[in-house]
Amino acid sequence: MSLLFLVLLLPLSCVWGLPFYNGFYYSSGLHSKTLGGGYGEGLFNGVKLVVETTEESLFSHPGANVTLPCHYRYEPALAIPRHVRVKWWKLSENGSPEQDVLVAMGQRHRSFGDYQGRVQLQQGQLQEVSLELRDLRLEDSGRYRCEVIDGLEDESGLVELELRGVVFPYQPREGRYQLNFHEAQKACWEQDAVVASFEQLFRAWEEGLDWCNAGWLQDASVQYPIALPRQSCGGLGLAPGVRSYGQRHHHLHCYDVFCFAAALKGWVYYLEHPQKLTLLEAREACQEDGAQISTVGQLFAAWKFHGLDRCDAGWLADGSARYPIVHPRPNCGPPEPGVRTFGFPDPHTRYGVYCYHQH
Ligand SMILES: *[C@@H]1O[C@H](CO)[C@@H](O)[C@H](O)[C@H]1NC(C)=O
Repeated sequence: MSLLFLVLLLPLSCVWGLPFYNGFYYSSGLHSKTLGGGYGEGLFNGVKLVVETTEESLFSHPGANVTLPCHYRYEPALAIPRHVRVKWWKLSENGSPEQDVLVAMGQRHRSFGDYQGRVQLQQGQLQEVSLELRDLRLEDSGRYRCEVIDGLEDESGLVELELRGVVFPYQPREGRYQLNFHEAQKACWEQDAVVASFEQLFRAWEEGLDWCNAGWLQDASVQYPIALPRQSCGGLGLAPGVRSYGQRHHHLHCYDVFCFAAALKGWVYYLEHPQKLTLLEAREACQEDGAQISTVGQLFAAWKFHGLDRCDAGWLADGSARYPIVHPRPNCGPPEPGVRTFGFPDPHTRYGVYCYHQH
């Protein structure tokens, strides 16, 4: 496994095909300019480079812009400003590789991968090297390192970015344990969500998520959260917790998946309509209302963040029928809050519909 991992990582480390030093890529020309340029190493005798970030997690939501703060200074302070190199990167999480975000040397900036066109250094104040990250995506949540390099001095700080969201288990129409890792990614994507990370599942378990089917996580491990140990679910002998099957093969093994949907920009509502509808009619009815039939992820987010509570089953985009309950009551499912599911009924059955309206 780790060998495979190495092979995957190698091409990434070679993006520029240039010498690699200290996490930075630069040509030998730049190299001599930055390290030479008249600064002797001796200047740093007794001078300390200090990098400061924020200790609190930043919370945001998809589509928003956020600034990850980072400042540096010298102790004692220097009279003459010095040129530093700055590198922002996202830490690896549960086996997913770390990602370069941005490197800057003087006026030269370069951003990488999915971050291209969405990031820039914010240098409003002296010695500020904050990272402005625009149009946030679900995948952007995680820990970022701000690294400042001056000659041979090299200091860094961490910033944690969390996107508010909700974790939900997902099974496709075909039933239990039908998704390999790639199909799992696609299934979440189609629900306006991404595959959940372990941290996200763990937090959901702390908040009471209990699901007796194993599902894929972002790092291609397969796990399931149990709040109440029971005979039918691994036995009474095991403590409550998130139980892991470990890493599984991306193609060969099939499970359910845990998806993570973020707080919404728009809103979800139950369409008031004179009759119950077939799946096809439900899609059309939402469109006629200037909206779209809601995805499962959107319904979960509306339940969790907007308190959507409705005891009427409605069609969703994937052909499942569900309803969201915040205040449990008789005839509206179990005594815990949750999104109740009717599975995937025959498309000709008649139900209500949940629509999603942007903005
Ligand atoms: C994010 O920043 C861009 C560019 O500055 C701006 O056009 C956009 O409206 C901002 N988005 C939000 C949600 O503030």
